Amino acid sequence: MKTSFTKPETPKSGAIVVGALEGRRLTPSATAIDKATGGAISRALSTSRFKGGSEEPLSILSPAGLKAGRIVLVGLGKAEKLDASAAQAVGARIASHLAGSGEQEASVMVDQIAGAPIGAAAIAANIACGAQLRAYRFDRHRTKEKPEEKPSLKKLTVMVADVGEAKRLYAPLDKLVDGVVFARDLVSEPGNIIYPETFVAEAQRLKQLGIGVEVLGVKEMKKLGMGALLGVGQGSVQDSRLLVLRWEGAPRAKDKRPIALVGKGVTFDTGGISIKPAAGMEEMKWDMAGAAAVAGTMIALAGRKAKVNVIGVSALVENMPSGSAQRPGDIVTSMSGQTIEVMNTDAEGRLVLADALWYAQDRFKPRLIVDLATLTGAIVTALGNVHAGLFANDDSLADQLLAAGRKTGELLWRMPLADEYDRLIKSDAADVKNLGDRTAGSITAAQFLQRFVKDTPWAHLDIAGMAWSSKDKPLAAKGATGFGIRLLDRFIADNYEG
Ligand code: BES
Ligand code: MN
Ligand code: ZN
Repeated sequence: MKTSFTKPETPKSGAIVVGALEGRRLTPSATAIDKATGGAISRALSTSRFKGGSEEPLSILSPAGLKAGRIVLVGLGKAEKLDASAAQAVGARIASHLAGSGEQEASVMVDQIAGAPIGAAAIAANIACGAQLRAYRFDRHRTKEKPEEKPSLKKLTVMVADVGEAKRLYAPLDKLVDGVVFARDLVSEPGNIIYPETFVAEAQRLKQLGIGVEVLGVKEMKKLGMGALLGVGQGSVQDSRLLVLRWEGAPRAKDKRPIALVGKGVTFDTGGISIKPAAGMEEMKWDMAGAAAVAGTMIALAGRKAKVNVIGVSALVENMPSGSAQRPGDIVTSMSGQTIEVMNTDAEGRLVLADALWYAQDRFKPRLIVDLATLTGAIVTALGNVHAGLFANDDSLADQLLAAGRKTGELLWRMPLADEYDRLIKSDAADVKNLGDRTAGSITAAQFLQRFVKDTPWAHLDIAGMAWSSKDKPLAAKGATGFGIRLLDRFIADNYEG
């Protein structure tokens, strides 16, 4: 789907999209279209339950007095709540309503809304962004789809008085969409297509944006002593990689230390010798969503030339059972020097992150670290598919992330860290073990990670419940969500730029 911005005029074909605020209050454009059609909108409203909120938009087909094929009335909610994220949701509702409608083109008439926190140009830009996010579809491997099974909507024109301003505001959002699409593509691809080597090959595209792309292979990682990461990958015929991305947008900043983003990139997680049950194992193709979100965030930041220095470190491995695989009970030595007793080879995410976290600190001396990982099933039990788990050793970092979550709708819920939990991962044979008891599974995983964090402010996002959705969400059709990119982009924009 293509989006563009133009000055308002009455469209001669396709769908005309106009808005209604909560309480069925028509916008000026909607009122004008209602008049032009002899009250078609008012009549439709009088026989429907549509209230002007987040419900399914109202379609009025073949309205008399207009050349367009249909009028779509989309709810805008309360004027005072119509911020960037609400406008994105409006765009998403339009895209999903029209995706399979048969319409190929739609024009959205955007008005200045009295009492709204953002102006018409910003509403227009965010509608375009939300529509793009919702229109995403992973259909690369569907070769036999008939045209009528594919989405019909090809072109979305957003009409607004200040076209120049809308375009200016849309430019960074377009890059944000690029980042989310890049991540969703990688997350959606199966394990036979995306594995460490092909993941880093895709990441080479980031160079075009001015992002430094560096790849460490098995040899280099051996030299660095990354026994925890390499142990996980040793059972696979696909060699492990460490991907290092660098965006230097503030080379002359007073504090040049970068923000470090660290991603879990298990391209397929069978569980290894502690093998997972067959049912649902295909889901473990998205066990690299943390790494994908790190890459996607770098795209968004570089795309809008963010004035900040950020590095992205992703641990890319495939967790397979084989004759060369790591065994339960194996003891590995991490880059930090700490030895780890591997009680369960399925608790592999924390093992690869241990070395990625240590490497990021050792080499880059970051001002703070945020890691993203589809780390535990236990976080899904605790928080479902609504909030990602947030663990942090620093309250102000945690608060900044929570605030960015509220603003973008990528919600976080803070979870505790405490010595009492750390005790559960004491090992009799090594410095630490990669498994606690049956309790507090997400917390003991986070405690494990914390053992590999020095005194740097650090936050861990357990996104196991958020990276993939079996149901449509406001800004994503079912499938890969790209969770974390809009969140981190906002977190950085609000706190670390300029
Ligand atoms: N990748 C999984 C966690 C996961 C589960 C992500 C469900 C998304 C959906 C992780 O590597 C894992 O297997 N965790 C185990 C840990 C256990 C062995 C301590 C789990 O959660 O069961
Ligand atoms: Mn696992
Ligand atoms: Zn995993």
